[in-house]
Amino acid sequence: MLTSLEITGLRGFASKQTLTFSLPNGTPGSGLTVIVGANNAGKSTAIEALRAVAQRQGPSFTQGRRNQAAGDQVLIRAADADGNATVLKSVRPGSSETEYIMEHKGVDLSKLLVLPARRVFSPYFNRSVTTRDDYMANIGFPAIRTSTMDQFTYRLFAIEKNRAQFDQLLKRVVDPVPDWSIDQMDNGQYFLKIRKGSATHSSEGLGEGLVSLLFIVDALYDSKDGDTIAVDEPELSLHPALQQKLSDLLLEYSATRQIAVSTHSPHFAGLAALPNGATVARVHAVDEESRISQLSSATAKKIFGLMKNDNNPHVLGLAAQEIFFIEDRVILVEGQEDVVFFKKVQSSIEPLEGTFFGWGVGGAENMERIATVLKELGFSKVVGILDGNRAQLAQTLKENFPLFHFFSIPADDIRTKSPVPERPAVVGLLNDANNAIRPEYLEKTKQLLQKANVYLRG
Ligand SMILES: Nc1ncnc2c1ncn2[C@@H]1O[C@H](COP(=O)(O)OP(=O)(O)OP(=O)(O)O)[C@@H](O)[C@H]1O
Ligand SMILES: [Mg+2]
Repeated sequence: MLTSLEITGLRGFASKQTLTFSLPNGTPGSGLTVIVGANNAGKSTAIEALRAVAQRQGPSFTQGRRNQAAGDQVLIRAADADGNATVLKSVRPGSSETEYIMEHKGVDLSKLLVLPARRVFSPYFNRSVTTRDDYMANIGFPAIRTSTMDQFTYRLFAIEKNRAQFDQLLKRVVDPVPDWSIDQMDNGQYFLKIRKGSATHSSEGLGEGLVSLLFIVDALYDSKDGDTIAVDEPELSLHPALQQKLSDLLLEYSATRQIAVSTHSPHFAGLAALPNGATVARVHAVDEESRISQLSSATAKKIFGLMKNDNNPHVLGLAAQEIFFIEDRVILVEGQEDVVFFKKVQSSIEPLEGTFFGWGVGGAENMERIATVLKELGFSKVVGILDGNRAQLAQTLKENFPLFHFFSIPADDIRTKSPVPERPAVVGLLNDANNAIRPEYLEKTKQLLQKANVYLRG
């Protein structure tokens, strides 16, 4: 399996940058590598580099793809854990032609399937059946990014023969699955026929999200343990509910396969996968160059494992997943009250030129953890604001993160609080030992939920 990909001289990548891949170990998410970053940062370029090196015949690197600052030549190096590497490089500066150089045995790239962001095929096509291996090798590296992926239509003929297996997986994301078959017109051309009630239409009538999804489900359904699948923006045109379902599917597959996605969607950067070994790489521009900063899986495991906390679910929720999608200039505060009230304070006195992170970091003791994540992801401007009684912590953080800026407010808390009168004990539905339901409430609660379901189903 792949452990790293080095990119030099391709599009925005001037100096050598390295992307490290997670290795699946049987737990969901362990083989997941998530690539995030602003528009125009270089995410698709990283996926394209993978696509290029996987070609059996070396692709050409056209003028528009070569970075002048890197000497008008490209070098991509894919390495595995056994010290093998495959290098694809320009034969000389200023030339579109490329050669492969194998270090030791070279990396086995035959199990690598890379899907670009634009996943469309011409609605009318010819007949040919292709194997997964041929499809992977010939998926191509077209000179123009927006070309249609017509090789996919050959895969449709193979899917027709394995429909049950394919539909079972598709149903996990879209239910009911569209009723389709391949049909031939009298002029000899084939098309995808979709039945809708008593009417039929071609794939042209399918929503874009569904067409794009067919490519992804196809890449998964006959994949094997140890395969590598990379998808540029799996979320394209998908409803958020479907994005979440597809993300769950990718998590599951990444237990035994390497899955790499570039994404703008928090649904595909589930923090819960990080303790299992998933990794996040952020592509960002520094001095007009694409850079890759990556959260080490060691840090991810340590930090996000620690932060699992039933009392503070928002720290790990969708809002917090935005930690991977915020732009630089981040403002960290302790908790949700600070977000609400500090936003008001600053806007009336001196508006801060940054973005507040989620609903705070979930307590002062988490400030260091979130700052570590931001540091590893290459953020350069982070302000942390602590309560006045945490001045010492602010000082320690300043020393540990010299690039960032920490201070404590001149009062002990953002709000003034009266002493809380003692609270009488409350007996809850759950016991306080392990938050399990109390046996005396089990039957009644079950009936309640069943009633709700009768209503929901009706
Ligand atoms: N030949 C080149 N030389 C230098 N920079 C280039 C070259 N070709 C493209 N770029 C730069 O590469 C960047 C585009 O990279 P890419 O398409 O990978 O971004 P992306 O992160 O996928 O963006 P999006 O999220 O919008 O899809 C732009 O900043 C562009 O200026
Ligand atoms: Mg892109």
